[in-house]
Amino acid sequence: MKKPIDDRPVLMKFRRAIQTSWRLVTIIWSHERLLFIASCVTTILPGVIPFINAYIYKLIIDQIVTFVSTDTLHQDNLYLLLSARLVTYFVQDAAFRAQDYISHILWTKMPMVFQQQLLRKISSLDIQYFEDSDFKNLLEKVRDVAGYRPQRLVTDLLYGAESLVRVSIAAIALVYLNPYLMLLVVLVIIPEFIVQTRQSQWAWTIWDWQSPLKKRFWYLNDVLQEARSIKEVKLYKLAPKFMEDVHAIQLKFYKDDRMIARKGFKIDILFRVLSAVVYLGVELYAIMQVLARKITIGDIGFYTTVVGNFQGGLGGFFRNMNGVFESSLYLESMFQVFDTPPIIQENDVPIRIKHEQPPRIEFRKVSFVYPGTRKKILRDFSLTIEPGEKIAFVGENGAGKSTIIKLLARLYDVTDGEILINGENLKNVKRADWYACLGVLFQDFNRYDYTLKENIWYGDIDRKPTKETVASAITDAAASGLLKDFKHGYEQMLGRTFEEGVEPSVGQWQKIALARAFFRNAPILILDEPTASIDAKSEAEIFERVENLSRNKTTIIISHRFSTVRKAETIYVLENGRIIESGNHQELVKKNGQYATLFSLQAKGYQ
Ligand SMILES: Nc1ncnc2c1ncn2[C@@H]1O[C@H](COP(=O)(O)OP(=O)(O)OP(=O)(O)O)[C@@H](O)[C@H]1O
Ligand SMILES: [Mg+2]
Repeated sequence: MKKPIDDRPVLMKFRRAIQTSWRLVTIIWSHERLLFIASCVTTILPGVIPFINAYIYKLIIDQIVTFVSTDTLHQDNLYLLLSARLVTYFVQDAAFRAQDYISHILWTKMPMVFQQQLLRKISSLDIQYFEDSDFKNLLEKVRDVAGYRPQRLVTDLLYGAESLVRVSIAAIALVYLNPYLMLLVVLVIIPEFIVQTRQSQWAWTIWDWQSPLKKRFWYLNDVLQEARSIKEVKLYKLAPKFMEDVHAIQLKFYKDDRMIARKGFKIDILFRVLSAVVYLGVELYAIMQVLARKITIGDIGFYTTVVGNFQGGLGGFFRNMNGVFESSLYLESMFQVFDTPPIIQENDVPIRIKHEQPPRIEFRKVSFVYPGTRKKILRDFSLTIEPGEKIAFVGENGAGKSTIIKLLARLYDVTDGEILINGENLKNVKRADWYACLGVLFQDFNRYDYTLKENIWYGDIDRKPTKETVASAITDAAASGLLKDFKHGYEQMLGRTFEEGVEPSVGQWQKIALARAFFRNAPILILDEPTASIDAKSEAEIFERVENLSRNKTTIIISHRFSTVRKAETIYVLENGRIIESGNHQELVKKNGQYATLFSLQAKGYQ
């Protein structure tokens, strides 16, 4: 396998790990301060107790030894010691239980917070991020990070602190016995730390590499289980092919993980042997010290506990720090998403516009290339749309019609030239104001698996969806017929995902989306292929209503159906991102150009 991708200098990696941990802790601190403190206390406290316990035990043993050899026994003392031992046991146990409970609550709550922050951030990002495969890889990585990585990091951090407490106390005790022993123990542990760090680097690197594969895996998952794709998959017998792809990906994951586990296993065994040797060595040393009458018999037990704790604590500390380091690598991706800057910026003092009246729209020498691509989709595109004008775009597939709408909705910024709204550059106009002006039915409109009423209401979430307003939008979209099939009327759940949901036909979904655009009641109505799936009768009905509806509105209609566009005041014929003809239907037919050719072709089809 190749060298890990993350080849930043070690110190820098540690600095990043500290920064990431700090950032994580700050977020937790601001949301769940008390729980966090409680979690710290209940995790760190059990680090101290074994020593107290072992020391009490040593005192008990020494008393017994004294009794055996001299027949004197301080009974009260012994009872006191036994009671103290009971108390420490209890405290230890209570701390464990409390820690379990607290961490359960804390880590039920915090992942929700992270997931919410993440979703909020992701949904605020510009569309072009979602068309960028690198960013999609990042999102894929983050998919499983927010759920459990923060917990892993914080748990490692707290256990690291607990280990540090244990190690410090044990170190003080060991220095009393023999400082060189401590050195020996440290020597055994350092190599393990280095090996572990490398191993987690591998794990992270592989995870990083796997993200494109994971993306493919989840994509295949969708294709194999979404109602929308399953039909073709079945009919064309694609399932076995896709399953083969799934299997290949899984096999790759399995092999990578096995490789890491194998590496870890070999090193682990070696370390266990070494550490057993050291442990026994210290025990032997303590026994010899007893024989030399330098320490008491009770001390043997105490020092054994101390060494165990020192070794375990130091090993644990390194393991936890390593865990922190590893988790922070994963969490960096989450913070990377948090820090992703918006591409389409809003001015500090944006220009406000009113949405009562349609504004004048002007495309001035606009050129456009989709981010991350090279092909110029629009070139020197100029066009003015007067307030209240009814225009239409026609043109072949890929001519750039939908792209114009996306630019108008400022989902992308133009590459060259400018779009002016009442003479102001769209880039300077307050986005919320501009969006309030737009009612758009996109070519790839959404289908919400919510009720019919909600599907309409989402056209303008700020407006109350009364029975009248919803009904009128539905009527305008020639969709009233739907209601007679719906058991629950406006409250009918749509889509088959949820209980009692019904699946509208494709054309019915389109009517619902159209009704949503009508419900918005915005001064600019944009319909991109609004009737592609709608029957001729409904189409006629809809356009009769659109005419009434849009009396004071600007309307922009895109369609391949000439029946839909012929009533527009100006029809623009697009080819390769340029307007090649314009005029009303009669003028264009008379011109005998591209429009006339296409129109007669379509008309011929109906003869
Ligand atoms: N998100 C995108 N990223 C990159 N290129 C795109 C994107 N969307 C569209 N394109 C490209 O832009 C060109 C114009 O697409 P557009 O969707 O505007 O065509 P259209 O005129 O609406 O066609 P249709 O009649 O098929 O709807 C096409 O060549 C297409 O490949
Ligand atoms: Mg289109």
